[in-house]
Amino acid sequence: MQVTFCRLRTHQWCFILFNIVLFHALLFGADFMEEYFLQSPPFSYTDAKFMEIREQARKLDLHLMKDNISKSYLISGPDVCSEREVFLLSVVFCSPENKTRRRTIRDTWGNVTAYKGRAVITIFALGMPVSETIQSEIVNESQIYSDIIEGSFLDTYHNETLKMIMMMEWVVTFCPTARFVLKTEQNMFVNIKSLADYLLGLETNSEDLYTGRVIHQSLPDKDPQSPNFVPVSSYSETYYPDYCSGAAMVMSQDVVRKVYLVSELVTTLVPSDVFVGICALRAGILSTHSSRFSGTRHIRYNRCCYKFIFSSSIEDDRELSSAWRDMNEGEDCTVMKTYYGLVSCKVWTYIDKLNYFNKDIKDSALSF
Ligand SMILES: *[C@@H]1O[C@H](CO)[C@@H](O)[C@H](O)[C@H]1NC(C)=O
Ligand SMILES: *[C@@H]1O[C@H](CO)[C@@H](O)[C@H](O)[C@H]1NC(C)=O
Ligand SMILES: *[C@@H]1O[C@H](CO)[C@@H](O)[C@H](O)[C@H]1NC(C)=O
Ligand SMILES: *[C@@H]1O[C@H](CO)[C@@H](O)[C@H](O)[C@H]1NC(C)=O
Ligand SMILES: *[C@@H]1O[C@H](CO)[C@@H](O)[C@H](O)[C@H]1NC(C)=O
Repeated sequence: MQVTFCRLRTHQWCFILFNIVLFHALLFGADFMEEYFLQSPPFSYTDAKFMEIREQARKLDLHLMKDNISKSYLISGPDVCSEREVFLLSVVFCSPENKTRRRTIRDTWGNVTAYKGRAVITIFALGMPVSETIQSEIVNESQIYSDIIEGSFLDTYHNETLKMIMMMEWVVTFCPTARFVLKTEQNMFVNIKSLADYLLGLETNSEDLYTGRVIHQSLPDKDPQSPNFVPVSSYSETYYPDYCSGAAMVMSQDVVRKVYLVSELVTTLVPSDVFVGICALRAGILSTHSSRFSGTRHIRYNRCCYKFIFSSSIEDDRELSSAWRDMNEGEDCTVMKTYYGLVSCKVWTYIDKLNYFNKDIKDSALSF
């Protein structure tokens, strides 16, 4: 083996090298391009309009309104943050009926309550269920865990934007000490540790952060038959502005405040993550892309890959539990292992995508 290796000519070496480079370019090229092109250009906040919003956001104090605002919630969780310094507040948008999923999240990634001495809190944001039995179960559940907030609107897809506004109002009113706010969905896995590590790295410059998987030039759904239909009357431009996928995104406290302030001026008849994107643009905040967020994609489990990324969709409760257990056992990942893990994750993601397309084309049944 060694002998044949040594006998390779220069052009053969070049060929091998070329293939290695090509392999990496194909695998990670898209990520690099995305991170580069979706990078916000340098931005100046000198525009008078933006300056005014910044000033208002800084002064915004709903503290005195606490009691009044509480009345518009079914469960307002006033003591969840209770004046303490919170480094990262995770808000999981959850359907009221999905008690099992909440339990799974509490037992897995939601169980992280501190990282490097800083407080981390995970709560669930719900709308109203249709059934009263479920409502009383939720009240019970919230008494046990104190990690639920519930608005007084029906929990439906079309009311997601109301939930988003509720979340921001709640943060400003009941958790103004939270430095960063993560918004995510019940079907997601979030690696709180790697995310907190990244956020700690920003600490000296922790303002104006609006980050996640950025969706570029997406089009409003113009099909009147579709449940996601957006009429021209509610959004008239061709493309949505760049926005962070709502599957998992992080905002700093000042961004939540600014977005909340301008939210009154923006139509709520668009998907909730687009809504935040439109508000952010109005407030002079630009999105920052990170390919460590998966968006709505599922990333095939690999230990060192999962220790590196920020989020992935995992629908299955058992898969989430076993991934979590496995991640937290064993030794740390070396740079080489992390690298190998990322390559493996990437390759599987491409293969899964191909499978998905094939399945789509053949229209074969749900069986895999
Ligand atoms: C709370 O609501 C009541 C009645 O609607 C109103 O009289 C009161 O001024 C409000 N309090 C604050 C702090 O806004
Ligand atoms: C959750 O965290 C607590 C303390 O941090 C620990 O005792 C408990 O075993 C954890 N639960 C799970 C399911 O990991
Ligand atoms: C709520 O909890 C109480 C006591 O813990 C229990 O008796 C009751 O049945 C529970 N209600 C529901 C709807 O689960
Ligand atoms: C949103 O919530 C309101 C208030 O509960 C309800 O009247 C409305 O039907 C809900 N919207 C949808 C689309 O479900
Ligand atoms: C609960 O959430 C999980 C993850 O999104 C989903 O797979 C499951 O179908 C949900 N169950 C209910 C009852 O909504």
